[in-house]
Amino acid sequence: MSWRHITIARFGGPEVLQLSQQDTVPEPGPGEVRIKVFAAGTGFTDTFIRRGRYPGFKGKLPFTPGYDLVGIVEKTGPGVTAPPPGQVVADLSITGGYAQYAIRPAQYLVPVPRSLDPAEAVCMPLAYLTAFQMLTRYRLLPPGATILVIGASGTVGTALLDLARHFGLNAIGTCSAANLPVVAHFGATGIDYHADDFVPEVRRLTAHNPGGPGVDIAFDAIGGAHFARSFACLGPGGLLIGYGAQTMAQGRAGLPSAALGMARLKLWNALPFLFSNRRAEFYAITARRTTHPDEFKADLAALFELLRTGAIHPIVVDRLPLGAARSVHARIDAGGVGGKIVLMPWED
Ligand SMILES: NC(=O)c1ccc[n+]([C@@H]2O[C@H](COP(=O)([O-])OP(=O)(O)OC[C@H]3O[C@@H](n4cnc5c(N)ncnc54)[C@H](OP(=O)(O)O)[C@@H]3O)[C@@H](O)[C@H]2O)c1
Repeated sequence: MSWRHITIARFGGPEVLQLSQQDTVPEPGPGEVRIKVFAAGTGFTDTFIRRGRYPGFKGKLPFTPGYDLVGIVEKTGPGVTAPPPGQVVADLSITGGYAQYAIRPAQYLVPVPRSLDPAEAVCMPLAYLTAFQMLTRYRLLPPGATILVIGASGTVGTALLDLARHFGLNAIGTCSAANLPVVAHFGATGIDYHADDFVPEVRRLTAHNPGGPGVDIAFDAIGGAHFARSFACLGPGGLLIGYGAQTMAQGRAGLPSAALGMARLKLWNALPFLFSNRRAEFYAITARRTTHPDEFKADLAALFELLRTGAIHPIVVDRLPLGAARSVHARIDAGGVGGKIVLMPWED
């Protein structure tokens, strides 16, 4: 039986995404399962990989992109006892999601409740898990605390706003003017970062906080020099969580700028007494999954439960067939998507 997937044979722009056909369905090896993919997430990190700039994946070429997927286990390979065939699962695959079939290690797969919409469920493994772990695994804020979300209209940004609302936190988010309604939709205060310098604006908005002006946690994936601006938005004892180097990924800053940003995080964390007890951390989902695999599974399962009970509401802006992958990447490159575009590999 023939099946389709997207391949990348060289790094570059959206044009390197090719729709390819295979004639035989792949067989799982030891420790692997074959997943029939219902929904493949797309996002900035896929474009980062497509450009050949992502530190966690540089090849081999050709490969199939797709950082996260939801599908049903069709067949298990030798030695696999769970998940069984017929189980719907989610995977943080890093690559391989843009396909009708994926062969994946069984190790990190997490069961997905049958009642969930696969397109909404696929927002969980990368975007929502990143947001959830950054919000819960470093410092648990009490209801009423304030967070700052840089890039609040993105897939991780909206997940942070959605979870902040669920946890009773106040959120301030930076985004482009066109995306201010996305931020307001989650009950957060938006700042158009093109029009205003967000640092004084955040300090003005938090001027009456009991502990002093500034937010309790700031989340920043822009990286480089931008980390210093987010750090300046922290109140005394506040925490900056860096989780990306977006300007470097887009080619708008070089590796030295990203490295300087990382060095700053380390300095702030090492010498908090010089910075009003403000600290900084760097979060990376794949590194944390390697060091804390049980936590990864527990947190993803907790998110599926929040989704099942209607406590969180991911924004799926479009559901498109595999053949739309190029135009999806062009839209992500242009910015301002305002949520997640999901590829539905079996829908034409
Ligand atoms: N460390 C980890 O484990 C981890 C996990 C997931 C993602 N990430 C990283 O997180 C970043 C965001 O991912 P995503 O999937 O949320 O991307 P996305 O959906 O493309 O969102 C990125 C957002 O950034 C905003 N933006 C761009 N430049 C900005 C600036 N100077 N100031 C404020 N906002 C700006 C854009 O907002 P407007 O269009 O409104 O301008 C866009 O909505 C990427 O760098 C990704 O690689 C890291």
